[in-house]
Order: sequence, then structure tokens, then C-alpha cells
Amino acid sequence: MKQKNQVSRILAMAAVLGFGLLVALQVQARTGTPEQIAERLKPSGELCLQGMDCGGVAAAPVAAGPKSGDQVYNSVCMACHNTGAAGAPKKGDVAAWASRLAQGMDSMYANSIKGIRGMPARGGNPNLSDAEVKAAVDYLVEASR
Ligand code: HEC
Repeated sequence: MKQKNQVSRILAMAAVLGFGLLVALQVQARTGTPEQIAERLKPSGELCLQGMDCGGVAAAPVAAGPKSGDQVYNSVCMACHNTGAAGAPKKGDVAAWASRLAQGMDSMYANSIKGIRGMPARGGNPNLSDAEVKAAVDYLVEASR
């Protein structure tokens, strides 16, 4: 009688253990191995910035493409050309721009890139490309004819 009791207790324990093992396997089957989980948790399209070693993959430049004239004007040039600060010809002041326009656009581009008197080179932002400065000049001049 005592012996039978012990056997059934062992059987019951084995059943519990077996069930636990089954659940654990089931969970692992659904979630995957730790490696698979780590793989899934990785951000899709890992960030690879300029200057980073990204395993031979060419790094994308941080800024996506050149800024438009409108964007450049409104982030850099407006500080002076909206207000007339430092004696800058104001945007939309047709009379103030007429005499400058007479010298031709090439000269205006060159002066904006090199700077002229109170006008700092590239509006004070050396990171602007020639094309971006020219686009900003176009934008400014178009609004001032
Ligand atoms: C710190 C103030 C300031 C900022 C910022 C500035 N300008 Fe000027 N800008 C001036 C002043 C002052 C003049 C007049 C210079 C002169 O002829 O004495 C001027 C003149 C100009 C002219 C006329 C140049 C010529 O040949 O007559 C253009 C075009 C121009 N700016 C474009 C820009 C553009 C584009 C930006 C932005 C990228 C910009 N400016 C940012 C102050 C500024």
C-alpha cells in the first residue's frame, strides 16, 4: 500500500515535470531561440551615418539632398533680409533691389558666395553649397522684383 502510494506520487511528479517541459518547449517554439529574438528586436534598416564604419556599406549623407532656396532663405538669410538689419536690402523692397539687379545675377551670386561689405559670405553659413546660396538668391530676388 505504502509502496503504491510512492509510485503514484513519483508518476504525478513526472507528469508535472513533463507538462512543464512541454510548456517551455512550446513557448520557445513560438518566441524562438534567444538569437532569433535578438534578430527580430534589431531595428529594421540599421542607422548608418556618414563617417561610421557600416561594414563596407556606403554611408548615406546625413542631410538628404540640397536645401531649396526657400528653406535656405528662411533659415539663414531672413535674419537680415526680412528686417533690413546691417543695412541689408529687404525682401520685397523693389526699389532697393532694382539697382542691385542691374549688375546682373552672376555678380549677385558671386557677391553672396564671397560676401560683400555687411553681407557675410554664404550669409554666414559656410556649410551652404554654391547651389544652395544661388537658390536662396533666386528666391529672394523673385520676391523683390
Ligand atoms: C548678417 C546679415 C545678412 C545675412 C544673414 C545675409 N545677408 Fe545678404 N546682405 C546683407 C547686407 C548688409 C547686404 C548689403 C551689402 C552691401 O551691398 O553693402 C546684403 C546684400 C545681399 C545681396 C545683394 C548683393 C549685391 O551684389 O548687391 C544678395 C543677393 C544677398 N544679400 C543675398 C543673401 C542671401 C542669399 C543670404 C542667405 C544665404 C543672405 N544674403 C544673408 C546682410 C546679410
